[in-house]
Amino acid sequence: MNDSFLFLGKFLRHGTAIASLAPSSPWLSRTTVRNIDWDHARVLIELGAGTGPITHELVERAHPDCRLVVLERDADFVKVLRERFPPRPNLDIIEGDVRDLPAMLQERGIEKADTIVSGLPVPSFPKDLQRDLFRMVGQVLKPSGTFNQITEMPWVYLRFYRRYFDEVKFTFEPRNIPPAGAYFCRGVKPIVD
Ligand SMILES: C[S@@+](CC[C@H](N)C(=O)[O-])C[C@H]1O[C@@H](n2cnc3c(N)ncnc32)[C@H](O)[C@@H]1O
Repeated sequence: MNDSFLFLGKFLRHGTAIASLAPSSPWLSRTTVRNIDWDHARVLIELGAGTGPITHELVERAHPDCRLVVLERDADFVKVLRERFPPRPNLDIIEGDVRDLPAMLQERGIEKADTIVSGLPVPSFPKDLQRDLFRMVGQVLKPSGTFNQITEMPWVYLRFYRRYFDEVKFTFEPRNIPPAGAYFCRGVKPIVD
């Protein structure tokens, strides 16, 4: 409940930078990570973790040898994340902006990720940041990997993600309030300036 109040307050103050009235439900969180190969994934990246409902799934289910990189820009959310997920080997909770992701990964010696899970409000990003984000995703994601994006606007952004990826599938999650879902995107298209 505390998370919900914190989240709502952030939404009222920051609007599209938070883009949701409440944290993802456990159903939406599980849907968003449903295609991860837990036995074999060794690097998982979460962008825009908020208060950590999806982080919870990653922390619970990742292989002990899998590195988890969890990025969040909002300092209050990061405080909640660090309290909820105490330090443990292979878990890195980073306070920062996704714009700086390449440098953060480089500092940690991470070159490739098996899956990138995103709670970021990507459609509200300025166009240049959208392009930079998908360029970064193209550099970091393994060819077989997917970019898994939550949404509270089911199907609405299929065309948007298809502009950037060869293959985009959508899974609906009606039990979230509001009904929501996740896009599963593979094969970033080359981004030409
Ligand atoms: C819709 S919320 C999703 C939160 C959480 N993943 C969930 O499912 O409940 C979007 C999150 O992205 C974060 N965010 C927005 N822009 C960001 C940026 N440029 N860099 C890093 N995080 C960002 C917000 O602070 C917020 O926590």
